[in-house]
Amino acid sequence: MEIRKVCVLGAGLMGSGIAQVCAQAGYDVSLRDIEQRFVDAGMNTIRKNLNRDVEKGKKSREEANAVLEGIKPTLDLVKAARDADIIVEAVMEVMDVKKQVYMELEEIVQPHCFYFTNTSGLSITEMASITKRPDRFIGTHFFNPVPVMRLMEIIRGLETSDETLETAISWGIKIGKEVIVVKEAPAFAVNRILCTMINEAFYALGEGIASAEDIDKGMVLGCNHPIGPLALSDLVGNETLLHVMEGLHRELGDKYRPAPLLKQLVRAGRYGRKSGKGVYDYTKR
Ligand code: 3HC
Repeated sequence: MEIRKVCVLGAGLMGSGIAQVCAQAGYDVSLRDIEQRFVDAGMNTIRKNLNRDVEKGKKSREEANAVLEGIKPTLDLVKAARDADIIVEAVMEVMDVKKQVYMELEEIVQPHCFYFTNTSGLSITEMASITKRPDRFIGTHFFNPVPVMRLMEIIRGLETSDETLETAISWGIKIGKEVIVVKEAPAFAVNRILCTMINEAFYALGEGIASAEDIDKGMVLGCNHPIGPLALSDLVGNETLLHVMEGLHRELGDKYRPAPLLKQLVRAGRYGRKSGKGVYDYTKR
């Protein structure tokens, strides 16, 4: 089946990045969110990324403009989804919110449409179970910043068909990603390891073992990570990290208990770069 139109739901960090890489690969893209300010913020991020590529000589201005023109921002779910071949859902990392989106979609999409969920670690099988097409449902997990990070993790639910898996793999390759297929398990493969490490960094900070700067410096210089774990948490969003850790804790037990300092930062609204403050203060930079 030929894939022409991709509808991305959620214009946040992940959704806007996914819309950009899809448009770059030549797909017609609709980008939908529930409030105009979210849609505008997503389109601004894409514009900024494309301008950077033009400044660095990676794209011509015409190419950048063509990518922008390929993305139709909207608040209207029916308009965004009704003629889509693939829905990529990248809304909040909360099971009930995601299920609600799929319930609304059921009345709108075409029978052949695939559901790809970008989740950091929620159960694909559980989400798929509330739809009439669990065989056309699969997890496609991207990494932030989406235009830069080369990996896409693919996670099959219990009922996912071979056709859906093959479609997700060839779509992932077409949008420029390397894919790995992992079994359904809490937080899959990468986030189980990565988020547990970041959570440990919050424990170390909370226990006063070292300053945030030194913990990050230690992991950058001692382990060759491109960015320290606390700075990375600010980049992906501390609330996202907390959702992942809560899921791991719920499913796999005490070893994965979220660090108290991480919870406190999230309760204070210090989500990281997106809110201006997280572990670090970005308002003064
Ligand atoms: N969007 C698009 N492109 C970006 C970008 C962004 N937000 N930030 C940086 N870039 C590009 C730059 O244009 C540059 O491209 P070039 O090398 O071709 O010129 C390249 O990325 C490197 O950028 P910079 O030199 O400005 O900055 P850094 O060298 O500090 O790199 C980084 C920034 C790419 C974010 C790097 O720090 C990094 O790789 N960090 C680790 C990211 C990571 O681990 N992501 C996974 C998070 S986990 C996740 O997302 C899963 C979720 O479920 C929680």
